[in-house]
Amino acid sequence: MAEYQQVTVAEVVQETADAVSVVFDADFDYRPGQFLTLRCGPVARCYSMSSSPHVDDRPQVTIKRIPDGYGSAWVCDNVRAGTVLDILPPAGIFTPSSLDDNLLLFAGGSGITPVISIIKSALSQGGGRVVLVYANRDESSVIFASELRALADKHPDRFMVIHWLESLQGLPTPRHLTALRPFTGFQSFLCGPAPFMDVVSQALRSMGVPRDRIHVERFISLSGNPFEETVEEPADGDEATVEVELDDEQHTFQWPRNKKLLDLLLENGIKAPYSCREGACSACACRIEQGEVKMLQNEILDQEDLDDGIVLACQSLPVTDEVKITYS
Ligand code: FES
Repeated sequence: MAEYQQVTVAEVVQETADAVSVVFDADFDYRPGQFLTLRCGPVARCYSMSSSPHVDDRPQVTIKRIPDGYGSAWVCDNVRAGTVLDILPPAGIFTPSSLDDNLLLFAGGSGITPVISIIKSALSQGGGRVVLVYANRDESSVIFASELRALADKHPDRFMVIHWLESLQGLPTPRHLTALRPFTGFQSFLCGPAPFMDVVSQALRSMGVPRDRIHVERFISLSGNPFEETVEEPADGDEATVEVELDDEQHTFQWPRNKKLLDLLLENGIKAPYSCREGACSACACRIEQGEVKMLQNEILDQEDLDDGIVLACQSLPVTDEVKITYS
């Protein structure tokens, strides 16, 4: 079972008619753009954090009620100030490697959640320019409208917001987005519904933006429940050796060939990050420094990530006799 933390909800803020922010009375480390996994009654769901670790005193997630969405309905109907929730540690790799980078951000609907976390951190800590393209159905569905306006007023030379309202302009097409050509040298971050992200990715690629400058966060739906599952029993058989660097500490383990890396680490008391355990969320992502592994499943990393040596610990088995892995 996952090592989870219990946190008390400080307040629930109604952001729009169907979106709420759940603010926690808690203090933990996280990076802008990361997500939390919450126990929502009998299921677990991942929700991005909309707070900035650099600006906001209290962490928060923002959740939009989705028609027929069990997790979002459970939160909107059950969570109040004083509710105690089970959460897994912050996870995810949708985070700028430098807050000084120039950033071109695309958010569709509630995809603004991790993006506003990045915006607040970059504007307060970095020195680069930030351009946000924010697509919504109509004006009433724009989450964080006044907060974005205040940030644009405070940083007129560094921050620009381009609102795109489907009710007025229809859906954006790759041709519309070519107007963003002056910003294609920036690091791009995309979060929103799949059709929106497909259009944006296509537009960026057609303007010559390389894959390694396009960072995509996909909404995922967990089929399992990491709060309930137990770690498998140790397997017998042939073993490799793995050296792992996590939180500035080095560990060396014998690694059975048929045991997934994440299971090995958890069994040995290492607090490696994870959420879905099914290759879908990237919470467990780490980097191979030496050797080779094979992944049983991968629904989240793209070729560029794989070329950089990124793998999913929850799906990795050893191939070579010696493997070196880092989480830094
Ligand atoms: S824990 Fe989600 S991909 Fe590994």
